[in-house]
Amino acid sequence: MSTATSNTIASPSTEETGMKRQYALQAARLTLTAMANITDGLQIPFLKAAPQTLNQIITLADSVKTNKDACGQLAKQATDLIQAIAQASVGKTVQMDERLQDDVEDLRKTLESIREYMSKMTSRKTWKRVLASSEDTAAIAEFRNKLAHAVVVFQIKDQISARISQHAVTQDILQKVTNIHDHLTTSAAGNPPYQSEFLFTPPAYPECFYGRDEFVATAVDLILTHSPAKLAILGPGGVGKTTVAAAIFNNSSIEDKFGEHRAFVSCEPLSTTESLLETLCKAFDVSVQNGKLHTALMSFLKLLPDTLLVLDNLETLWDSDDESDNVQTLLRNLSSLAVLTIIITMRGILPPKGVLWTQPALSVLPVVSVDAAKSIYQAISPTDDDMVLETLLCNVDCLPLAVTLLANLGQCGLSPKELQDRWEKEQSKLINLGGKKKSESLDVSISLSINSPLLKHNEDAFSLLRMISFLPAGIPVLYLSEIASHIESITEAQIVLFRTGLAYLTASKRLTVLSPIKLYITSNYEITANEIIDIQKFYFDLA
Ligand SMILES: Nc1ncnc2c1ncn2[C@@H]1O[C@H](COP(=O)(O)OP(=O)(O)OP(=O)(O)O)[C@@H](O)[C@H]1O
Ligand SMILES: [Mg+2]
Repeated sequence: MSTATSNTIASPSTEETGMKRQYALQAARLTLTAMANITDGLQIPFLKAAPQTLNQIITLADSVKTNKDACGQLAKQATDLIQAIAQASVGKTVQMDERLQDDVEDLRKTLESIREYMSKMTSRKTWKRVLASSEDTAAIAEFRNKLAHAVVVFQIKDQISARISQHAVTQDILQKVTNIHDHLTTSAAGNPPYQSEFLFTPPAYPECFYGRDEFVATAVDLILTHSPAKLAILGPGGVGKTTVAAAIFNNSSIEDKFGEHRAFVSCEPLSTTESLLETLCKAFDVSVQNGKLHTALMSFLKLLPDTLLVLDNLETLWDSDDESDNVQTLLRNLSSLAVLTIIITMRGILPPKGVLWTQPALSVLPVVSVDAAKSIYQAISPTDDDMVLETLLCNVDCLPLAVTLLANLGQCGLSPKELQDRWEKEQSKLINLGGKKKSESLDVSISLSINSPLLKHNEDAFSLLRMISFLPAGIPVLYLSEIASHIESITEAQIVLFRTGLAYLTASKRLTVLSPIKLYITSNYEITANEIIDIQKFYFDLA
């Protein structure tokens, strides 16, 4: 399993694609088991003997020390091809003309050479392995070409059906062979989906990680005691949801339970459910036929042992107008799988509906304690000025993203005292490292929630947000409809703020916002006359 750090760009051709290889081999084994039921009754002797050779190839692919991923793919492709031919010949009367015999013989030889080559690879001494690595890459590519060629041969010469049978082979089987052909030729052309690989490259255990021991322990316990657990890690932007998910994903008990069967998929760069499906198929190395991604993914996942899937920043799709229905269907279908433990991270405090989330549910992720915030700052930018540091971090309500960005400014040579002075003048604009990414700027992170489709379509929610930000201690929920009397649907407005993670309820039941969000709103948006009138009316009536 790959645990490349999130900022390391790993070459997809390295051994880091261990999980992909495991899935490829697992799929090959499953295909082989299914094939065993049909090959016995077949009239072509080669097809009866092929499962044994394939079994050896799969075992060898599992034990090679170099080019593991490519060997795994090769084993899977060989198995897929033989299975398609075997299926096409079930119940058919075979007419073995000379050319068919030659073609079958070529295929037999190709399988034999693959087995022999892999056997040679496994028995090489370490130093020879290193020397032969590039030679092996070329040989594997050549084998792939041969398998691709075999598909063409069997397909072109009157589409298997006429050659093997007097009855027509169903369109379905022909389509299957065509798909395998497409799959083989794209792989053989050396055109793997490099760009998408990073979407599911799992993050490493966070290097700097404080104040979350209890949360992680609770989540791990829920996963180990509920099979399969469904957990939602919720909270405002920048509170540390992704970081906590990475810690759970890399926890040793979780590694022990799921081993290689763990996938971490970031939904952030995705704009459609279709692209999420594609990414999931790639993450699990599912081979797709007839373009039916959903069917292929579900059938594949059903056959796996216990598997963990993390869907990070799901709000990207969940809050989108066009995609929310589709992503809801997908999530519901995934959560119906008995083998699949699901963790999602999402901005807001309400979990996605349609899934029975494991109870007791995880609490909404709070900001970290002052001590943890200080530890985060000290780990990035050590300082002796503990007193000012505490004031500085309390100014940003100990929101981990803000703490991290302040510490990054500290690394640039600014002391906590200097940062505090600048904070008083510049406020949230200070917390900006000059980049356009949310990890570099508090404003960018907050504006993602402000610009979410949910808030854009609900002017009432935005109005409520301005009012809460204007009042120093937020608004007591008890008086919400009285204070915000110009808002028609106050409940809906409140829910939208909860869903975006922009507002939350305090223990004393006041609807409020974190300090950085308050500052962002007050400095970027003016409170309207109606809102002021409502506030004044309420407080004058009280007086
Ligand atoms: N417990 C922690 N200890 C140290 N640093 C943390 C912790 N939690 C979060 N951080 C840091 O805070 C920043 C934001 O964290 P993260 O990306 O996990 O937040 P998020 O809630 O997933 O944000 P978003 O809603 O934008 O996806 C990151 O730089 C991360 O390293
Ligand atoms: Mg995140």
